[in-house]
Amino acid sequence: MKLWGGRFSKDPDQMVLEFDECIEIGNRMYEQDILGSIAHATMLGAQGILSQADTKAIVDGLNGILEDARNGKITWSVDAEDIHMNVETLLIERIGEAGKRLHTGRSRNDQVALDNHMIVMDACREIISLLTALNTVLLDTAADHLDTAMPGYTHLQHAQPITLAHHLMAYVEMFLRDLRHFEFTYEQADEMPLGSGALAGTTYPLDREKVASLLGFSRITMNSLDGVSNRDYFIDFISAASLTMMHLSRFCEELILWCSSEFAFIEMDDAFATGSSIMPQKKNPDVAELIRGKSGRVYGALVGLLTTMKGLPLSYNKDMQEDKELFYDASDTLQHCLAVFTAMFAKVTYNKARMAEAAMDGFTNATDCADYLVKKGVTFRDAHRISGELVAYCIKHGKILSDLSLDEYRAYSPVFDLDIYDAISLETCIGKRNIPGAPAPEAVQASINSARARLEAFKAKFVQ
Ligand code: ARG
Repeated sequence: MKLWGGRFSKDPDQMVLEFDECIEIGNRMYEQDILGSIAHATMLGAQGILSQADTKAIVDGLNGILEDARNGKITWSVDAEDIHMNVETLLIERIGEAGKRLHTGRSRNDQVALDNHMIVMDACREIISLLTALNTVLLDTAADHLDTAMPGYTHLQHAQPITLAHHLMAYVEMFLRDLRHFEFTYEQADEMPLGSGALAGTTYPLDREKVASLLGFSRITMNSLDGVSNRDYFIDFISAASLTMMHLSRFCEELILWCSSEFAFIEMDDAFATGSSIMPQKKNPDVAELIRGKSGRVYGALVGLLTTMKGLPLSYNKDMQEDKELFYDASDTLQHCLAVFTAMFAKVTYNKARMAEAAMDGFTNATDCADYLVKKGVTFRDAHRISGELVAYCIKHGKILSDLSLDEYRAYSPVFDLDIYDAISLETCIGKRNIPGAPAPEAVQASINSARARLEAFKAKFVQ
């Protein structure tokens, strides 16, 4: 008979059992569920709601189940519907009558809410740790490439020269924002809902603050209806995960371009590429492509859960059981992608000569040519036009700006002098862009220092 079977004349249909259960995904949170129950029972004992003997029997019994579960000795059963009733059924089997008192002053609705809060906080810690590891590799690589020139792009057209360090630091900033999103998500989840009961609290004198402090929460939820029907923390989590996947996907797209023979900026390590079953010469960036592809399923989880929650009346509705599968899929996918990406990126090698050559190609110094004229007193609009005419002249004659003679320059403006060659050199184009956030090595070094300090703050708070 079901734990809730009193008012029923028969057991659920087998089809209903199979449709209703969620043990396959729910068993992933047995750890949080049992720790939550231990805290609940401990508090019931301290409040005199349970006798000391019952409390001890329950806590010992739960610890035994936890240990057996950790050692893979427990087979969870579909018949018991979900992880909460699996644990409770097992507890009653093992310790008898006392086990039947565990659920005093509690509902599965606030129990599952508690577990959910805990799994989100745990996953935030995991992801913050993975993101800091990735950012550390990026920062170390950037520090090695302060002088590695490469073209910067807009519209995927050569725009202005930058450095590899500067380009990588753009991603460091994105992942630092992601860290803040996961910090926010952690804080949203960091409130303890037990005591909300099924929806309307309970008449037992529960000490909710005690449960919160036993489990390491910093506060308790303040409305019992919201306590059992809130799933915002899952949506915050998947939304943060979606943004991180978008950042990874853009990064992967660039690496895929960069290892093509058209770019040839980088080489993937053989251990992080795959071959073709028919074309012997192929070395494909499958890992980067798969990460780019997996962003789709994380966005899918976000839209899925938003849609499940939309239009639900307060408070608990069974629709919400869909939350865990979507959360775990997004969390697993992101964690897997972060780990694989970090390992793959750490092994990339850079073709510096090719990148420097490309940095000069495509008139990336045309803006600097215009700026040169402005410094000589020409208005920017006229300087832009003159520079553009020089580019058109170069294209027609198969030259680049630094190939032109002073006479050729002067045919377009009399203010050109010999210092034009220095003004449009790669060293000047990069090195003189030296304001905060710009690509000059000195400026990028300052960005690296700032990012390292921000990263340390996350590590100190979240990474053991
Ligand atoms: N398995 C349920 C879930 O994951 C637990 C809460 C069930 N509550 C209930 N009244 N059926 O959401």
